[in-house]
Amino acid sequence: MENLQINLERTLNFVDQAAIFGFKDEIIRHIQSLDNMTGNGNDFLGWNTLPASISETEIQEIEESANLVKRIADISVTVGIGGSYLGAKAVIEALSDSFYCLYDSRKNPVSLFAGQNLSEDYLYELLRILDSYSYGITVISKSGTTTEPAVAFRLLKQHCENNFGKEDAKNRIIAITDKSKGALRGMADKEGYKTFIIPDDVGGRYSVLTPVGLLPIAIAGFDIRKLISGAKDMQKQCSTDVPFEENPAAIYAAVRNALYRTGKKVEILVNYHPKLHYFTEWWKQLYGESEGKQGKGLFPAGADFTSDLHSMGQYIQEGQRILFETVLSIKEPLHKLTIPKDNDDLDKMNYLAGRRIDEVNKMAELGTIMAHVDGGVPNIHIEIPKLDEYYIGQLIYFFEKACAISGYILDVNPFDQPGVEAYKKNMFRLLGKH
Ligand code: PA5
Repeated sequence: MENLQINLERTLNFVDQAAIFGFKDEIIRHIQSLDNMTGNGNDFLGWNTLPASISETEIQEIEESANLVKRIADISVTVGIGGSYLGAKAVIEALSDSFYCLYDSRKNPVSLFAGQNLSEDYLYELLRILDSYSYGITVISKSGTTTEPAVAFRLLKQHCENNFGKEDAKNRIIAITDKSKGALRGMADKEGYKTFIIPDDVGGRYSVLTPVGLLPIAIAGFDIRKLISGAKDMQKQCSTDVPFEENPAAIYAAVRNALYRTGKKVEILVNYHPKLHYFTEWWKQLYGESEGKQGKGLFPAGADFTSDLHSMGQYIQEGQRILFETVLSIKEPLHKLTIPKDNDDLDKMNYLAGRRIDEVNKMAELGTIMAHVDGGVPNIHIEIPKLDEYYIGQLIYFFEKACAISGYILDVNPFDQPGVEAYKKNMFRLLGKH
């Protein structure tokens, strides 16, 4: 099986190899302290060994619940925010056909999401859609007290009970939450919902390989065993037994921190496939919440190219030189499509006739990388052979491991998010919560 490849060639005009390899000893120590659980936030390290430790029983239980939902539902509504939303959304969007919502004969329920915003219009329009369909709800909250999903779930629970009756609604609702704490746990126990537990030692943004991500992904019809297998192989590839030079997470953590120390303050994760848009959103949360504290950390931004080359391209090429890019590239798309010849050639595109769309996309990618590097934007290139469950699994573990190492390099706790509380305090005060 091929592996994710990381190429640093186009960073070397900006940081020399010595600066990157200067992190070697420190990173080896950080990987050891992750494994020995001696570093910052060591009570939240469950994700580190999760791919290899998830049990067959747990996988089967998730698959069985997913099959039950698939049998009764046209739509699966996943309710959650932040780490209780983005992992599932990222994987489902990456693996789904771009227009699957329009298919008449679907094999799997369409995945919709709620509780990731407080928009009245969004929730109203969601309820109107649900009026006409059979659906299931997966409500996810580790704390069990987060306002956005709690508000959305209150509406959805009522809608579900009104539509299907209280007894049937119980069979359509699955709760994923803490084993004993929080309002959602209390409600799930009282109502008798099927529940899955979010392990105590796995924080929200590192939880995609727990039922938080695995159940919605399985309901959407994707192979969670392959996802776990990709993550498991990457876990081996990023372990202490692997030399620094061959450990992709170590290399990525080293180069992004070397660039940070030269004054590059913003990392833009770039994709050339719209299916990866939400993968970038997942990555932004992972890195933003893990690193951005105590006045430190790279600002994680995202761009969908080539679309955003026509909006953000100008700034990236010529704006403040505080940026670097990490391109997430897919070697081979799922489908083949060539550009047709046109006898009139009014659009002057015949020079591309017979060539694949992906060749044009790849030349846009290479041309952009060269232009941005010339313009002072270093480029880290990460390539996966194709977009499937296995390689998404690799990417998830790779980015999680590199994020934890990067947090340790910055000397912050990469597993807490104290800053998120500030807006909540104001919101609760403004709403008159006691
Ligand atoms: O990464 C995190 O811990 C957060 O983004 C949480 O996932 C998010 O705030 C949702 O929290 P909860 O699952 O408790 O509702």
